[in-house]
Amino acid sequence: MGPSSATARRFSRVTGTGSYLPPKRVTNDALAAQLARSGIETSDEWIVERTGIRARHFADDDAACSDLAVAAARGALSAAGCDARDIDLLIVATSTPDMVFPSTACIVQDKLGANGCTAFDLQAVCSGFVYALSVADSMIRAGSATRALVIGAEIFSRLLDFSDRSTCVLFGDGAGAVVLEASDEPGIVASELHADGRHVGVLCVPGTVSAGHIAGDPLLKMDGQAVFKLAVGVLEDVARSVLAKAGRTDRQIDWLIPHQANIRIMLGTARKLNLPAERMIVTVDEHGNTSAASIPLALDQAVRAGRIKRGDTVLLEGVGGGFTWGAVLLDM
Ligand code: ACO
Repeated sequence: MGPSSATARRFSRVTGTGSYLPPKRVTNDALAAQLARSGIETSDEWIVERTGIRARHFADDDAACSDLAVAAARGALSAAGCDARDIDLLIVATSTPDMVFPSTACIVQDKLGANGCTAFDLQAVCSGFVYALSVADSMIRAGSATRALVIGAEIFSRLLDFSDRSTCVLFGDGAGAVVLEASDEPGIVASELHADGRHVGVLCVPGTVSAGHIAGDPLLKMDGQAVFKLAVGVLEDVARSVLAKAGRTDRQIDWLIPHQANIRIMLGTARKLNLPAERMIVTVDEHGNTSAASIPLALDQAVRAGRIKRGDTVLLEGVGGGFTWGAVLLDM
């Protein structure tokens, strides 16, 4: 006897991916020349050697985070062969929302014409997309959503202190999206999310809006070495524990997509998981660190390039401010 509808297990599966980069591409040399005009010294050589970054994209002044999100979402919807009106859950992972409120998800919903569905923003900085994907998977498995649009979108250039060379060379703008649909088989095999608020100060934008006024300093601050050490430790641990949860081993990973912050952290993680570097998707060289957008951007580019194919097992790993981290293991 086959499973009845009451007992059939429900999973979620990615059915389409999309992404968007603002047209303005800024090379390390161009950024170094811009910083030199304010007396700040940096070089392509330093940036490539320490981070692997060669260029990043910056949004124009009149672009909003929701514009980038909508462009990525349209790509994902079209790849999934569905219309925005078919979406019943919309999550935007971002730390650079259009407004304090309403959520960027509500603005995206209106721009796409997906009005009426559940829509909210999720804030976990660079772990935001992994968090959002895991939440959407849980809601689909629980039966409270059937077809979700999960977006990571950021305009980090608005948070950068261009007088601080140790941070302003690291980040870029962009967006990535997936459509996640209910399915009889996984899809998402396992996921795990973590946070440790003891490390709030190592990576933060301490300014805030209080009673309508900006209080404090609303630009990014980072203790790069502390972040580096924390990231290297948690990325291996969470990969191992999500694999154990799924009953799989590191040999069963076809592709690793870590958060794209620094090639040295990424290569270290791949090595610890016994994965050859060719099995890791790298976009940090061309995108810089796009925070919550980095993983879905890399996923979409790899899918469109024909590298990641249906049936491949992909490990997504996020890490970022909070401190937050997490992983999602999925069969495409
Ligand atoms: N150009 C030239 N020199 C620089 C630059 C620059 N852009 N930035 C810093 N330096 C100098 C420093 O002043 C220092 O000089 P000094 O020795 O004379 O004092 C020297 O380079 C070394 O600086 P370090 O900070 O020790 O360099 P490090 O090798 O640690 O690299 C980096 C710095 C790239 C930031 C690294 O620590 C790192 O990648 N950390 C992790 C960052 C990360 O992953 N952040 C994203 C997290 S995700 C999120 O949630 C946003």
